[in-house]
Amino acid sequence: MTQGFVPPPYPYDRLDKFKQSAEKHEGGLVDLSIGTPCDPPAPAVIAALSSSNSERGYPPSIGSDALRNAAQVWMQRKFDISVPTSQIAACIGSKEFVATTPQYLKLRTPDRDTVLFPAVSYPTYEMGAILAGCRPVAVPMTATGGLDTSKISNSDIKRALMIWSNSPNNPTGALDDLKSLANWGRKNSVPVFSDECYVEFTWSRKPESILQHGLDGVVVLHSLSKRSNLAGLRVGFYAGDKEIINYLKEVRKHVGMLVPGPAQAAAVVALGDDAHVVQQRDVYLRRLEILATVLSKWSGFNIDLPSGGFYLWFDAKDGWTFAERLAAVGGALVSPGDFYGAGGANNVRVAVVQPDDKIALVASRLTRE
Ligand SMILES: Cc1ncc(COP(=O)(O)O)c(C=O)c1O
Repeated sequence: MTQGFVPPPYPYDRLDKFKQSAEKHEGGLVDLSIGTPCDPPAPAVIAALSSSNSERGYPPSIGSDALRNAAQVWMQRKFDISVPTSQIAACIGSKEFVATTPQYLKLRTPDRDTVLFPAVSYPTYEMGAILAGCRPVAVPMTATGGLDTSKISNSDIKRALMIWSNSPNNPTGALDDLKSLANWGRKNSVPVFSDECYVEFTWSRKPESILQHGLDGVVVLHSLSKRSNLAGLRVGFYAGDKEIINYLKEVRKHVGMLVPGPAQAAAVVALGDDAHVVQQRDVYLRRLEILATVLSKWSGFNIDLPSGGFYLWFDAKDGWTFAERLAAVGGALVSPGDFYGAGGANNVRVAVVQPDDKIALVASRLTRE
């Protein structure tokens, strides 16, 4: 029998071997590997979860009117863009959308088979291509960490179903040139999918959405997971090009992609509030600064603050060696950079998603050395 698809080891499971040495420290392991929020969501959001009266019936796959309106108003407020609610729809967090969209696009355009994505990036862009039976093609990065579209071959452009951008980028924190990218996509008839789940945590300039450069040929992806500390609820939304959104809305309805009603109701409240995001920005920025100082002092490596996102990303000569040493000495778990593509192998990603007292614990272990 021919061997079919075998799922590769899940990246974070590969860190299990470091857990034992980290756990030996008094106070235990401090997990700075997965980018899972640790801070509490806004109380009004939690209250909305139990009072929407939306448990009995099936929720609409495209999202309730209230959710799509809230997304529309948020995009208007944040980016000064007017997106018709008919061009906005819900997804069950953004990961499932990243992982499943290539297969739907392939069914619709069977003569194209290629998914383009940033060479150093969140691994699910590549996995979505693989799950669709498509060709994943990594696009080299520019010196500033955006997509270098000039390096994409003409044959890959002709075969491309889509190109992913992620700005701010996980893991690098870099910001992409979204205007050029939207224009490149339109010129080359390649739909641009812009994953902007970290957009609220943009540090070096005003947050930017690709939809500020027109809706045609582009789709944006947003999530409540990072913005509002709601990764456990699984709510996000996508918006943009009328024809692509209509297609995805229809096909996802057939699959049964439904965000639970109470989660939709909570997301409406979260999207309507900016105060908790302002607070959370301060928290992440402070933690980024503290950990950058502590880790660079301890290791001697140069650690810059990112342009966006809540990760430190730096060259540590060898990501796995650094991760092993930090687990042993500081009791902290971080991600070796090859999780995000071969080009990241020298680097390390540190997610500042632990409460301040845990971060202080790591700092005290490292300064004691
Ligand atoms: C770049 C990027 N996209 C998407 C996701 C998925 O987030 P969620 O599915 O919680 O919206 C993540 C999570 O870490 C991410 O880093």
